[in-house]
Amino acid sequence: MIKMTRVATVGAAAAGLMAFLVPNVMASSPGQQPPAAPAKGGPHGKPAPSPQTLRALADRAGIHIGTAVNADALAGEPQYADLVGAQFNSVTPENAMKWDAVEPTRGTYNYTQADQLVAFAKAHGQLVRGHTLVWHNQLPSWVTAGDFSAAELREILHQHITAEVSHFKGKIWQWDVVNEAFNEDGTLRDSIWLQKLGPGYIADAFRWAHQADPKAILFYNDYNIDGVNPKSNAVYDLVSSLRKQGVPIQGVGDQGHLDVQYPAPHDIATNLARFDKLGVQTAITEADVRIPLPADNTEVEAQNEAYQTLLEGCLLTRHCTDFTVWGFTDKYSWVPGTFTGEGQANIYDENYQPKTAYTAISQDLTLAGR
Ligand code: XIL
Repeated sequence: MIKMTRVATVGAAAAGLMAFLVPNVMASSPGQQPPAAPAKGGPHGKPAPSPQTLRALADRAGIHIGTAVNADALAGEPQYADLVGAQFNSVTPENAMKWDAVEPTRGTYNYTQADQLVAFAKAHGQLVRGHTLVWHNQLPSWVTAGDFSAAELREILHQHITAEVSHFKGKIWQWDVVNEAFNEDGTLRDSIWLQKLGPGYIADAFRWAHQADPKAILFYNDYNIDGVNPKSNAVYDLVSSLRKQGVPIQGVGDQGHLDVQYPAPHDIATNLARFDKLGVQTAITEADVRIPLPADNTEVEAQNEAYQTLLEGCLLTRHCTDFTVWGFTDKYSWVPGTFTGEGQANIYDENYQPKTAYTAISQDLTLAGR
């Protein structure tokens, strides 16, 4: 019973947005099966018509479509790599640019996996989102257990940002400079950075990143900021204040990690529109929609609509430039390892077959034409 109520809310929201965006799409069946994996050849040797890729549709819609990329899968699984190259025109390293991957011991940098992704992106005509420079997670123990003075830690952060952004200078489209700095109530998260450096660490991080690569577009990135709520209000106030001070921040990333157990963010377009007015761009940076397992048909339908709610929010926002999914296949999703009993959050299944969520995204992109 509870489930039905929640689903009805998600469905109503998506239907509302959809009607505004593309009235005629409501005639199509949301549960219809997507095309199977691209056919290599039709009967009698004739080439089969190939379905439009997401990136071809996104090009026409004037938006970038991206995916987070698992470095091991990219290197080891041709089918994975083929789909990254064919379907997306932007990529984000899922882990390879995080602090623990890049600077596992002080002053020793390892860019091997990140460089491989940047090279892959160049070969496939893709843009790269850099992720992420300042975060409370995936920090090496030499940072967290180092017992540094404030001055030392500030210099360590400065060095890390300068080294990493300089290494990739000219190759990164958008950098997630600061990630997840707020609590749900809009107060600043009690991270090592806030504790030791005070709230000024945020402005410092943007200034240092800008010095190292003046052309990269610098983002603040967080979750649960899809709609208007205390956390997104705090992000709005932060960005407004930083812009007034002349701090180089040019974008806000809405991660978009959703769960069919909760209503989809109906007011996402309202939320993103206010960032347009501040003069920054926005992006959906980590979209996925998890389901308590086993998933039933109603939950799958809610998932399709939740993906559409996020994408339509972006399409309706003039300066929302990209929509990135946090991995495209259930085979390599972070969800089962993080949210007990949940999964099937992505747009392809574990066997690389596109799911109905893929169709839902294709439909929105097909009809967007902005
Ligand atoms: C996750 C990765 O997907 C996992 O592989 C890793 O173990 C933990 O981090 N918000 C973020 C991402 O900004 O970097 C996180 O990625 C998911 C939540």
